[in-house]
Amino acid sequence: MEPPRDNPFTRFKAFWSGLSLFLLFGALVALFWMFNRGEPTAPEDVAADARRAVRATIDEAQREALPPEAIDAVIPTLAEKLLASRPVAVETPDQLVPGSETALRLAEEADDDDDLIARVNEMTPPADTPIDPDIMQKGQAAYIMCAACHGQQGEGGPAGPPLAESEWVTGPVSNLVRIQLRGLTGPITVRGVEYDMIMAPMPFQDDETIAAVLTYVRNSWGNEAPPVIPEQVEALRGEVGLPMVTVEDLIDPN
Ligand code: HEC
Repeated sequence: MEPPRDNPFTRFKAFWSGLSLFLLFGALVALFWMFNRGEPTAPEDVAADARRAVRATIDEAQREALPPEAIDAVIPTLAEKLLASRPVAVETPDQLVPGSETALRLAEEADDDDDLIARVNEMTPPADTPIDPDIMQKGQAAYIMCAACHGQQGEGGPAGPPLAESEWVTGPVSNLVRIQLRGLTGPITVRGVEYDMIMAPMPFQDDETIAAVLTYVRNSWGNEAPPVIPEQVEALRGEVGLPMVTVEDLIDPN
């Protein structure tokens, strides 16, 4: 029998000395940390600081360009639209395979439609036509579809050329409608810069919505042009399903 070890008071003392040693160590670590703060030197820390700074700048820029209230305001309209929207009937029953007989035949037929295109452009309202604010609002809500590639402010980006001050946007309306209904491929020069990418067709919304989004891009970020009317979209619906347009199919806006 060893009295000191079996005495509970001795064990209690050992507990307190253990705890004090632990706290002392903690205090030392805290002191060491306090006197060693300052500029980070490890490459990882420097990189992390830089990342945080960039993140903060991006967050702030995004908040300014698209405040959360603006997103909140658009969501009900968008949700309503999505619920109410049905796919528009495609005039061509064939599943088009690029280069297939059907695709080539339809492309040939499309080339004969210069009269229709001229008529569509004649439907454009005169230059002094006031722009309906309701249409602009509707167009702004629908522009969310385009913003991913063309930028919140139409400034363009890695996925698409600019729409702001683009000669195509304020040019003939038939170009815009056909780009949206059929998509666009191949090189196109926008504001003096050549792009060689692809824009997929986006014919899925009704004539009013497409007319509104095109009216919106024609009258935002410094652009100014007469509105696009739903009848112009309707007139070109027959082109849905045709191969993507190229610059050769379009009217030179310059
Ligand atoms: C997935 C990305 C993407 C989306 C979404 C998109 N576009 Fe595009 N758009 C492009 C690309 C890429 C081009 C250039 C294609 C090329 O190089 O031939 C283009 C070209 C254009 C052009 C002609 C060039 C210019 O910059 O003026 C117009 C007009 C246009 N898009 C309008 C729209 C509209 C309106 C919407 C929304 C309804 C839209 N786009 C949605 C990628 C996109």
